[in-house]
Amino acid sequence: MKVFAVKELANLHIQNLKKSGNRIGLIPTMGALHQGHISLIERAKEENDVVVVSIFVNPTQFNNPEDLQKYPRTLEADLEKLSATDCDLVFAPQAEEMYQADETAELFDFAGLDKEMEGKFRDNHFNGVGTILKKLFSVLIPNNAYFGEKDFQQLQIVKKLVNITQQPVNIVGCPIHREADGLAMSSRNMRLTTEHRASAPFIYQTLLAAQKKVTNHTPKEIEQWVVEKFNKHNNLVLEYFSIADEATLKPIDNFNNSSKYRAFIAVFAGEIRLIDNLELSN
Ligand code: PAF
Repeated sequence: MKVFAVKELANLHIQNLKKSGNRIGLIPTMGALHQGHISLIERAKEENDVVVVSIFVNPTQFNNPEDLQKYPRTLEADLEKLSATDCDLVFAPQAEEMYQADETAELFDFAGLDKEMEGKFRDNHFNGVGTILKKLFSVLIPNNAYFGEKDFQQLQIVKKLVNITQQPVNIVGCPIHREADGLAMSSRNMRLTTEHRASAPFIYQTLLAAQKKVTNHTPKEIEQWVVEKFNKHNNLVLEYFSIADEATLKPIDNFNNSSKYRAFIAVFAGEIRLIDNLELSN
């Protein structure tokens, strides 16, 4: 497994691999790798000749400096984990390699996808995600890039991004990986206290219960029911629950069979913000 920190060197190496006919699959990450990332690597290996993982905690996508500062950075452990997988190449640059000293996020027109849900609570977050992915795609020139559906809004926005930037990369969405008790895998889970970790599966349980209500309740009624469930919970705080169209991410007023919809949720477990979602239309 090769490890690069300099973009010109990584780019040259990948250009050569592509010249010899190799297809490149990229998994962009911010490190603190877990089984969810490993499953993306396995999927990428099935569909590509060379698997590349990038590890970079991207400052421009954090609207909260404390969250950026506390984000887990576990490069040594990540490299060890990756060496036991099908990963062929790691790109792990320092911030100065990716950004000029005073550089801020590029502004994209994501056609409103960035204004819903996460966008209401994390100002400029998706411009930061778009900025770093545009850079990573041009350095690592992947044929395919893999993203977990836990960040479903991000996935839709990344599809829009490559449409805007015209970068020739195919964006592949992959199912959410869950712990045995249903908690969606996330790098943030390792920061949960024992008490909050024990409570956190309530998020997925609530999504499943909401899914059961679709046949005889309106989206508004389900939303109110979820709000009440969390109001009664003693250590999880609901930030939002939204039932939205998968394509537009806009909240829906009624269930109609012609579109696909999903329930989206963000919850604070103490200081840790957790998100999850579940398809409702099947
Ligand atoms: O989902 C993430 O980990 C990040 O948003 C990403 C896609 C690696 C961009 O920094």
